[in-house]
Amino acid sequence: MLSIKFMFSLIIFNYVSPAPSLNILVYSPIFGGSHSKFMGNIADTLTQAGHNVTFLVPVADVTRRHEVGVKLTKNVMVVDKPNYNPDAAFNIDMDEVLRPLWTIQNRPSDFATCFTFFLEMMRTNCDDFTSNKKVFEELSKTKFDVAIAEPVSICGLGYFNALGIHKTILASSTTHYEGVVRNSGEPIDMSYVPVHGAYFDEKMSIFERYTNWAAEHVMAGNLEKMFDEEMEKYRKNLGVGVADWRELIPEASVFFTNANQYIDFPRPVIQKTVGIGGITVDMKKIKSEKLSEEIGKILDKRDHNMLISFGSMVKSSTMPEIWRNSILSAIKKFPNVTFIWKYESDDLKWADDTKNLHFLKWVPQTALLADSRLSGFLTHGGLGSTNELAYLGKPAIIVPIFGDQGRNGPMLARHGGAIVLNKMDLENSEVIADLMRKIVFDRSYAQKAADLANLLNSSPFSPKELVIKHTEFVAKFGPLTQMDPYIRQLNWFQRTFADIYILMFLFYSVVLIVPFLVVRKIYRLIF
Ligand SMILES: *[C@@H]1O[C@H](CO)[C@@H](O)[C@H](O)[C@H]1NC(C)=O
Ligand SMILES: *[C@@H]1O[C@H](CO)[C@@H](O)[C@H](O)[C@H]1NC(C)=O
Repeated sequence: MLSIKFMFSLIIFNYVSPAPSLNILVYSPIFGGSHSKFMGNIADTLTQAGHNVTFLVPVADVTRRHEVGVKLTKNVMVVDKPNYNPDAAFNIDMDEVLRPLWTIQNRPSDFATCFTFFLEMMRTNCDDFTSNKKVFEELSKTKFDVAIAEPVSICGLGYFNALGIHKTILASSTTHYEGVVRNSGEPIDMSYVPVHGAYFDEKMSIFERYTNWAAEHVMAGNLEKMFDEEMEKYRKNLGVGVADWRELIPEASVFFTNANQYIDFPRPVIQKTVGIGGITVDMKKIKSEKLSEEIGKILDKRDHNMLISFGSMVKSSTMPEIWRNSILSAIKKFPNVTFIWKYESDDLKWADDTKNLHFLKWVPQTALLADSRLSGFLTHGGLGSTNELAYLGKPAIIVPIFGDQGRNGPMLARHGGAIVLNKMDLENSEVIADLMRKIVFDRSYAQKAADLANLLNSSPFSPKELVIKHTEFVAKFGPLTQMDPYIRQLNWFQRTFADIYILMFLFYSVVLIVPFLVVRKIYRLIF
């Protein structure tokens, strides 16, 4: 009887006290909405799992200060720049700064130009943030079980090291970062894996392979240069003993990436890499979203509806006029299709008297994509929108504008539910209209998009589950040094077998050529 009572109390005890919650530090500087959203999602996922998450947010770009990224996590530490004055007006017009991205060419040399601005921002941010002694002291009081940072900046990893945290996790809001892959011992073969800034799929022409190879060198080189400069800052402010970033990247126990194995181009990864692409698409929440009456009425007007949105970075209202006008003429060719265009300006004279076009400054994108009345989507192909499209199963025209969008488009298009349109073709309304016709009226695209969504929503492990389980595992057993590939210790000759090829060459030279020479010598002596 006693033992039963005892067992019973054990069961009760186990039931009422779940595993002790972990102290988790997530470092997420503010500089770009999609990065903050991804890191915020990871933090919220862990908060939801019952952990004590601290979301550490240095403000790198003051104009985005409101885009923190978390919804559920309460412990948010926003760290402003030392000279920050909330009352000062910001006369930086980001729309004008970003306008040139519409027409930028996507050549490796342009990546370097684009990067200069970013490098300057991250280096300054690292200096400002690591010199804030008060924040460092405050954080030193808590013993963190595990810490997570995005390796788009290395400052966070240096900071964790200075705090004495060695159980770390990297999380990339893109499918991968070339500069990180290179330094973690993970292979990347540019002959068939499109790099971050590529504008083609895995079937590359010789010119594209060259571009891919050159782009990898430029982008990885840029990132490494930035890491070096950030390291100089964190060592200046936190001590020269803080580890080199080259040791901190491989010290991380897990690499979460915003890639989904069923969507992305197949590529070899090391066992530390865990794709959590799709974590930003919260299907439960999306299903509970309701469209406003106004939008519902718009959707009911015609049998077919298409959404147009170029995201929030480069605005539709700053698009070259000639492109805007040819999209408009394409729209006019479809009186039976209603178009909803996310457009940020009130200056709409240019589109007067177009009955089948509605402008909205903000669109409930996921609720629209989930609505059966929406027939298709014209998008810039940001990774967030690409994943939403994939999970919600709508056919789409993807017009990559800059950065990783050029890779995301072909990545989704290869599943058959989307078509990529080169942005330079936006000046041709016939080309646009032809694709609109396919996406709205040819059912095969809709079917393939629906098939992919069905597959994704039936995946064996949900991205949230992967984040929670791996993070808890690292907190308990990390750092997982046994997962650090030995290839990092090898030099180029060893890694590529060049040493062996050279030895083989020498060997065959001796074995074959020496007897030949001897025989020839003897032959000449005799005859
Ligand atoms: C949660 O984390 C904060 C640091 O942000 C810390 O001050 C607090 O003590 C932690 N709570 C628990 C219960 O450990
Ligand atoms: C629009 O729909 C009507 C009625 O269904 C049809 O007769 C007409 O041909 C359609 N027009 C176009 C341009 O598709």
